[in-house]
Amino acid sequence: MNWEDVIKRAFALINGEDDTIACYANISSLIHESAGYWWTGFYRVDKASNQLVLGPFQGPVACTRIPFGRGVCGTAWKEERVIIVPDVEKFPGHIACSSLSRSEVVLPIRERGEIIGVLDIDSKNLDEFSEEDAAALERICVMLGCRVRPEIVDYVEGSIIPRYDAFDKGHQRDHAKYVISQSMRLASFYDVDPELVYVAAAFHDTGLCEDRKTHHLVSGRIIRADEKLKEWFSPAQIEIIANAAEDHRASSDHEPRGMYSRIVAEADRQIIPDVVIRRTVQYGMAHYPELDREGHWQRTLEHMHEKYAEGGYLKLWVPQSPNAERLAALRQIIKDEAALRKLFDAFYEEENL
Ligand code: SME
Repeated sequence: MNWEDVIKRAFALINGEDDTIACYANISSLIHESAGYWWTGFYRVDKASNQLVLGPFQGPVACTRIPFGRGVCGTAWKEERVIIVPDVEKFPGHIACSSLSRSEVVLPIRERGEIIGVLDIDSKNLDEFSEEDAAALERICVMLGCRVRPEIVDYVEGSIIPRYDAFDKGHQRDHAKYVISQSMRLASFYDVDPELVYVAAAFHDTGLCEDRKTHHLVSGRIIRADEKLKEWFSPAQIEIIANAAEDHRASSDHEPRGMYSRIVAEADRQIIPDVVIRRTVQYGMAHYPELDREGHWQRTLEHMHEKYAEGGYLKLWVPQSPNAERLAALRQIIKDEAALRKLFDAFYEEENL
């Protein structure tokens, strides 16, 4: 599946239209036609009855109402999570709208932190849906629940993201787009204005045009001086956006100020166990040339415990970040000293080549 293409088309469809039903209708068709699924559609939360009510869909006739906690859809709503069902017969309580359906994926759609509906997809094949499929579909659900005015998107895409062309290899357009999409995903879990998150993420590194060391502060200045933003946002909103950009390099000494700052700061970092350990070894070798191998090992061990182990000073700003899982994996390695030593030795030897 070429999800990138589908995501681009979904983005264009959702951007141009405010009406939720119209968006659901076209998105169900887009996904259904692109992937050739058996049933693709939406259920919307009806608060009065505490049920999911059938929305726009493609495929055979389906049940119209699903109570909270029932079936795969009602469970995804109740447990507030994406559910992949490789074999529907093994999912207790699965509601069979069609006996031909063999596997299923259900994703919640969140608006300002609240679940307003689900995207449900059924396949005639067993085990149709991978984690990668779910991640792509989740991006579409985030777009549906976190809407940004098209004129703001046009401005960001046409005038802000291109500024990253002038920056270093690690801060090109793909970085801006990555931080935007991660920020929007994290924003979906909270009662925050998605437009403010979107703009803060888009501008967060624009200060690199002046200076690397203080670029976060320069980004804040650029935001406050931007004439276009003044057309769309109040001074208080612009201040929130500027603060979030200024705080994107947050640390335990400089904690992010508020949810917008936390979201952008968390979206901007990737805690990857191997990378963290390698960098620690590299840093030690560059800054403490007097240490021998055992000295470097001790320093690595101490740093890992101080910063990353349970109770260490590193803080996750937003628990729904993929960094949470990666940090847990890193903690497992730290607990298993032999495993950590093995990685240390490999990276140490790499540096001494
Ligand atoms: N299988 C779903 C019900 C909806 S249909 O399959 C379209 C469920 O168990 O929630």
